[in-house]
Amino acid sequence: MTDPSTTTAPPIVEHPRLTVIGTGYLGATHAVCMAALGFDVLGVDVDENKVASLNAGVVPFFEPGLPEKLGETLATGRLRFSTDFDEAARFGDVHFVCVGTPQAAGSTAADMRFVDSAFTELAKRIDRKALLVGKSTVPIGTAERLTELIAKVSPAGRELELAWNPEFLREGFAVQDTLHPDRLVFGVASKWAEQQLGAAFRPILENGTPHIVADLQTSELVKVAANSFLATKISYINAMAEVCEATGADVNLLASALAYDSRIGGRFLKPGLGFGGGCLPKDIRAFAHRAEELGVGQAVAFLHEVDDINNRRRLRTVDLIRELAGGDLAGQRVAALGAAFKPNSDDVRDAPALDVARMLYLEGAIVTVYDPEANKNAHSSYPDLIYVDSLEAAVEDADVVALLTEWQEFRDADPAYLGELVARRNLVDGRHAMDADDYRAKGWEYRALGRPAGRGTVALVSDARDEVGQPAALPA
Ligand code: UDX
Repeated sequence: MTDPSTTTAPPIVEHPRLTVIGTGYLGATHAVCMAALGFDVLGVDVDENKVASLNAGVVPFFEPGLPEKLGETLATGRLRFSTDFDEAARFGDVHFVCVGTPQAAGSTAADMRFVDSAFTELAKRIDRKALLVGKSTVPIGTAERLTELIAKVSPAGRELELAWNPEFLREGFAVQDTLHPDRLVFGVASKWAEQQLGAAFRPILENGTPHIVADLQTSELVKVAANSFLATKISYINAMAEVCEATGADVNLLASALAYDSRIGGRFLKPGLGFGGGCLPKDIRAFAHRAEELGVGQAVAFLHEVDDINNRRRLRTVDLIRELAGGDLAGQRVAALGAAFKPNSDDVRDAPALDVARMLYLEGAIVTVYDPEANKNAHSSYPDLIYVDSLEAAVEDADVVALLTEWQEFRDADPAYLGELVARRNLVDGRHAMDADDYRAKGWEYRALGRPAGRGTVALVSDARDEVGQPAALPA
């Protein structure tokens, strides 16, 4: 006879074996960190080269701290990578799906093919009680749709449950954000799923990390709402920069004064070239698209404006560079410092820096790009630009130097030394990262969006860095 307690509450696997499907920035980091926390982890990807590289201890992208952690965890024997979905289905008690949801071609919607395929391929091979956990950023309603899909294709039927656990990690700080997240969100449809997910995150929960248990829809919404808020904050200060430009006010002073208000705070209030990358731009577009489908497009119509403000930053940066070049970019040599969408990353997806370099090139400028880590990826996207291996080679004989990604190497550069290498001492500081007074003192024409020409350096609250290198909220 069946014990009624097991039918109502199936047992929890206290130390579950984990799989991680998709080994990009998110999945590789998640697999490595979960193994570092003591779990047995199988990372799965359809890309054989990626799998071979990870098994050999080589992270196929730049992420500080991850190569060391990969080496350590491979050595424990708790982590390995495979292309075999059959093996994954047999191995895992909890399966994390971490595949990408890029912007669909010719649309602002998210491309769901990778997510749908990962869930289908796994579910149709699983024939026992297990938990599938989505971590990808998806349109609201996806988890509900996938619940029906997996019940239909899996031999386990509704014994195979689905949960949603959005991921908030930032590239460049991925290891830190995964091991010590601000919060965990468990989107679940049953007590069993909540408890099983709790077991899979026990070491992080035991550190005192707050966790929110939510329905599936709310958990999907948390991620896009968070990214929309961050994008809005950045575009807000960049909109103020436009007002500053029309009035002679200084956006850096403004940001500093705003940041002292603890209700506002200084993080993500850094003006400049705006946001890019594989998340913020496509997530706000997909959110607006989904909201329109749901009949609440008006509620997030402001996100179109957020996107427009952000795109205008790129055009205005080109304007500023053209102005310093003397009004015409044809034949002018421009040193483009940075290609990645932000420092400490080699990611060039929707990178403002590369977009500016491309626009300069299209106007006839001779653009020389140097990024400490992203040259290779940038070259694959824009092979027509000139790429060099050092800051010195980039600025040599330049008519204008454009700081487009605020790598520490650029912040640390000596304006006097750079001044010896360039043809003309013109600097456009696209990230408000350089010391304006120092550059001006060394004879440079220094310009930045939202700051009057000739205005000196101010003490920037938002220039202070917190322990993970992000602009700090407030001074101590
Ligand atoms: C973002 C979210 O922060 C993260 O929580 C989510 O999981 C994924 O998307 P990421 O794309 O790694 O992370 O980069 P983030 O550090 O958020 O920066 C995004 C962009 O905004 C960068 O291009 C950065 O240069 C720009 N930015 C950031 C600003 O222009 N000003 C700021 O004040 C902060």
